[in-house]
Amino acid sequence: VTASRTSERAWLARALALAGTVRGTSSPNPAVGCVLTRDGTLVGEGATAPVGGPHAEVVALAAAGAAARGATAHVTLEPCAHHGRTPPCTDALLAAGVARVVVAHPDPHPVAAGGAAVLRDAGVEVVGPLPAGDPLREAVAVHLEGFLAVVARGRPHVTLKLAQTLDGSLQVPGRRWVTGPVARAAVHRWRAAVDAVLVGSGTVLADDPRLDVRDVPSHHQPRPVVLDARLRTPVGAAVVRPGAVVVTAPGADPARADALRAAGASVTEVAPASGGGVDLPAALTALTGEGITSVLAEPGTTLATALVEAGVVDRLVLHVAPDAPGAADTPGMSDTPEAPDTSETPGRAGMVRRVVPRPPGGTWVPERLGGAGRDLVVHLHPGAPAVARTGAVSEVA
Ligand SMILES: NC(=O)c1ccc[n+]([C@@H]2O[C@H](COP(=O)([O-])OP(=O)(O)OC[C@H]3O[C@@H](n4cnc5c(N)ncnc54)[C@H](OP(=O)(O)O)[C@@H]3O)[C@@H](O)[C@H]2O)c1
Repeated sequence: VTASRTSERAWLARALALAGTVRGTSSPNPAVGCVLTRDGTLVGEGATAPVGGPHAEVVALAAAGAAARGATAHVTLEPCAHHGRTPPCTDALLAAGVARVVVAHPDPHPVAAGGAAVLRDAGVEVVGPLPAGDPLREAVAVHLEGFLAVVARGRPHVTLKLAQTLDGSLQVPGRRWVTGPVARAAVHRWRAAVDAVLVGSGTVLADDPRLDVRDVPSHHQPRPVVLDARLRTPVGAAVVRPGAVVVTAPGADPARADALRAAGASVTEVAPASGGGVDLPAALTALTGEGITSVLAEPGTTLATALVEAGVVDRLVLHVAPDAPGAADTPGMSDTPEAPDTSETPGRAGMVRRVVPRPPGGTWVPERLGGAGRDLVVHLHPGAPAVARTGAVSEVA
């Protein structure tokens, strides 16, 4: 690796960090970062503005002014080459006289792609995109997963979060939460990274959750989404607020839809599912129409099972509470750094032990969910019987 390659990667990493500062605020546009340098010195940088505003390259060029002439642009995503809500970034880079462009991830968008070729044809030196599998490119891909899911599958990226006891129950009588504050803080960080948080009507009726980001730093609030075929969501529910989306099915009471709309929610009708509820692929497509590219699903057992069975779960986040029923006879369960939690119920713990990506080409079928997902991520307690039963531990340990 030459010195220049090393510094290019460092600038790209800075561009990725910049993109992180606007994650969730630019959707449905991808959150991109751009860093402009000349002779190894930073001359301008920027990240994608909220939708309708300038893309990262244009923000960085404005910051650099005349210093952009002859500069190198480091961008997390290949510059767009089409007229969308804003003019092509390739035009802006060429007009500013940028000499080199270093790209981390190619743009797979059928209309916007091709920016690298446009720049090359115009005499700009283009480096990248980084090869598939490069850790920096993969980090950018995780960051862009909502945008990439919409381009590839026409629907948002779906992360399913479940908090369960060791024996797999998603509910503990007498407890509002299955897990403790460590796991709950992790959930709030996941929420801060997505466009929307989704539940079924059953969770709204049982818990009246807010589904917002609290107690962790966040530059945006995800939109609450309820899948509610019969419009059972009370108008006074905490999720019913401006920005909320309620997805329902034909036959629901129009007066209830009007009341939800009057309270600021968007009410969208899709086809019913054969087994009850709304058709899940259609519901997710409808969310794309709302500008939502990534979803954290936090439903109860009914919708969680349906999401997995429909094959629309891209990532599973499983929080296992080791002290819940079934844990008593498991040695070592409370003896981990994350476990101690005496702030509420003594001995209660919220586990966020490890993140385990699904091995390439591997299949991981969560026993209790009865379906397969993609890129499964498991937050697990080492040796937790409920997780071990799924086969995940033996596959990845
Ligand atoms: N531990 C956890 O991680 C966790 C998380 C959330 C909730 N919970 C607990 O779970 C309980 C609620 O369970 P739940 O199963 O009723 O909640 P849910 O799964 O969030 O909601 C179920 C409802 O979603 C609606 N729905 C819409 N489309 C659907 C589809 N395609 N497939 C399935 N359902 C669809 C259905 O109602 P319609 O027919 O009216 O549309 C269904 O009754 C509460 O006690 C809550 O505390 C636990």
